[in-house]
Amino acid sequence: MTDSSSQRPEANSYHRPVMLPECIDALNIDPNGTYVDVTFGGGGHSRKILERLEGGKLIAFDQDDDARTQAENIKSSSFTFCQANFMYLKRFLKLNGVTKVNGILADLGVSSHQIDSPERGFSTRFDGPLDMRMDSHASLTAAKVLNEYSEDKLHKVFGMYGELKNARTVAALVVQQRANKPFVRTEDLKQGLQKVAPRGKENKYFAQVFQALRIEVNAEMKALEDFLHQCGEVMEKGGRLVVMSYHSLEDRMVKNYINKGKVFGELEKDFFGNAIKPFEAVNRKPIEASEEEIAENNRARSAKLRVAVRI
Ligand SMILES: C[S@@+](CC[C@H](N)C(=O)[O-])C[C@H]1O[C@@H](n2cnc3c(N)ncnc32)[C@H](O)[C@@H]1O
Repeated sequence: MTDSSSQRPEANSYHRPVMLPECIDALNIDPNGTYVDVTFGGGGHSRKILERLEGGKLIAFDQDDDARTQAENIKSSSFTFCQANFMYLKRFLKLNGVTKVNGILADLGVSSHQIDSPERGFSTRFDGPLDMRMDSHASLTAAKVLNEYSEDKLHKVFGMYGELKNARTVAALVVQQRANKPFVRTEDLKQGLQKVAPRGKENKYFAQVFQALRIEVNAEMKALEDFLHQCGEVMEKGGRLVVMSYHSLEDRMVKNYINKGKVFGELEKDFFGNAIKPFEAVNRKPIEASEEEIAENNRARSAKLRVAVRI
């Protein structure tokens, strides 16, 4: 077993925000406007938004207990924190007396703090419980997925969310192994899959396996779909939707929503031939991090930033 505590990074580096200036520019902030950061994390983006406000307000969301603790450090009357899943965007805005906003930022996935906390089970680098919940009050854990899902369901999870070429083999192996001993720790999983991991590429392979489980545990695709569909409803005309994703499935959903008005399916037109969709893309192609940023922050490597304006 790995000695996780000795490898734990410094606690002060909660999360290094990705494409910070690009996201802030993309929001096109009106100092008096109302903004939403639906993925507060360590608050890197939120703090920059707050710096631009004079009379405006920022409502931030995060479902994670540690993110809430970080948010408690922000003492500003312009700031409100909601410990909630962003799939309930509209509901929580309404609870805070907000019906229309001027910009929404989403920086999807998990924070470095979550990944670097061995006890959360997100990382392939440390041994920890097979947990992977962003919301520690939720009931589904990675162990439950591994020990209780059918082989078919596991195949889908590993294939769709992990993009594993041998997803079927992995699903069969998980089912076979759990019959002898249930999966409890991240090391159990890594050891169990060692023989099907491509030689020399084990780290990347396990990262894909862990990513698949994390997406399933947190119902990330469903949350993103529900969230996107509320953005058009709450956004003021001219307001900006700024979404940064790290997975091709997420990016495709964001792109479809911006271009077609829905996450799945084709663009619909009204009687006069006008497209029925709330947003227009500001950039045709997603913005990517500069080489300098990628060199300093490996997490920025897979980030794709899409920006749209409410029409
Ligand atoms: C990549 S981090 C955001 C980092 C942040 N921009 C910063 O600069 O520190 C993503 C955060 O979003 C949160 N999150 C992810 N999906 C969520 C959801 N559906 N609802 C609420 N929070 C979510 C995670 O708990 C995590 O803290």
